[in-house]
Amino acid sequence: MNAPHLPPHLLFGTATAAYQVEGAAAEDGRGPSIWDAYCRTPGRVARGESGDVACDHYHRYAEDVALIAGLGVDLYRFSVSWPRVQPDGGGRPHPRGLAFYDRLVDALLEAGVAPVLTLYHWDLPQALEETGGWRVRDTAHRFADYTRIVADRLGDRVDRWITLNEPFCSAFVGHAVGRHAPGTREGAGALAAAHHLLLAHGHAVAELRDAGAGQVGITLNPDHLIPATGSEADLAAVERVRTLHNRTWFDPLFTGAYPDNEREVWGPLADMPHREEGDLETIGRPLDFLGVNFYRPLMFRAAPHTEPDPALRTAVDVGAEQVDLDGYRTTTMGWPVVPESFEELLVDLDRRYPGLPPILVTENGSAEPDEPDAGGRVRDTDRIAYLNEHLDALGRAIRAGVDVRGYFVWSLLDNFEWAYGYERRFGLVRVDYDSLERHPKDSYHWYRDHVAAHRARRE
Ligand code: FCB
Repeated sequence: MNAPHLPPHLLFGTATAAYQVEGAAAEDGRGPSIWDAYCRTPGRVARGESGDVACDHYHRYAEDVALIAGLGVDLYRFSVSWPRVQPDGGGRPHPRGLAFYDRLVDALLEAGVAPVLTLYHWDLPQALEETGGWRVRDTAHRFADYTRIVADRLGDRVDRWITLNEPFCSAFVGHAVGRHAPGTREGAGALAAAHHLLLAHGHAVAELRDAGAGQVGITLNPDHLIPATGSEADLAAVERVRTLHNRTWFDPLFTGAYPDNEREVWGPLADMPHREEGDLETIGRPLDFLGVNFYRPLMFRAAPHTEPDPALRTAVDVGAEQVDLDGYRTTTMGWPVVPESFEELLVDLDRRYPGLPPILVTENGSAEPDEPDAGGRVRDTDRIAYLNEHLDALGRAIRAGVDVRGYFVWSLLDNFEWAYGYERRFGLVRVDYDSLERHPKDSYHWYRDHVAAHRARRE
């Protein structure tokens, strides 16, 4: 399969997140996070799995950096575990927790790979959850303190900073659907969490600028939304979902306003008592890049509200229900493979938000069955096809005028896929969870060759 032609300035990378790969959950003073607590709650995570050991990246980071270097990529995106740096979510940093990221960053730089640091990939210190978590404004200030600590320590070597990963998931999957930590079903709490996550982001941007950080951005997971039919009801339902999934983030960040259809979307929850004057200015501070994660499109149709008592209405009940998209191959996540949606999403965002900063595609990839053959080789041709087709779609979006500067494969390693545990494998590298040995899959070699060919065009 040939690598599609992409502009030479495009940078390539691969990505992971702390809780999904590090393990060493009780080591070097790390405090518990909401994900540790969630994993310990029976029935939450498949087979009762947790990130206690994960890929043991905390101890095997040197081997993993060698794998990253072997790919020849420009960038590696990882996240810092807040409860390693501040075990109780506040106060003086734990020296051993911070020292791990020092070692990791130095190893990357030595290998010629630029680190891209995400400050928050969902692992809130449990101590902060107990004082209200993202539902309370104070957590946004705690995040600013934590940001400052990490920026002061690593800002001399880390150029690209991402404040939050997918705040949609933190707020709504965590506090409304309840399928992610902290695993609650609230209405007002989820909307307060959304706002305080945005505020935390805004405060963190100020801290990063003040600390002299290089480039600062946020990673969102805007959805490409497809109406089930062309009916007026379905089109209106999709617009409500667009506010829930996309506009709640994009509008305050990039237009300085909250979405104009909030009352229609949130009903009695639209009063938003947690918002204060000046918040939009904090949230809307200029960014150097926007991270976009993309996996699959979603189809919706209109549906009656399921919660008859409006006071109990969960924040995700916007009068729409998801329907399966037929006619596409699905990955082991059950996600349809629709590369043209990737192109359409990027072009659509570019048209809707003219002031958007340059885009880094901070995650894209697929979970596949990945059976190793007798010799241990994983011939993951479906993953290779997925990546190839999505890179093709990316090229078309770039040719249509979207300013994309980087692309990261999710993920370097098979890892802890949240509520699905270890069964869903996204890695370019297979992890044998008994021995913790790493085995590059065919996709690893394909990506390496693709990056090499791309870099050759750069010279
Ligand atoms: C994204 C997450 C990432 C990973 C992929 C499959 O939503 O940011 O951690 O789980 O999905």
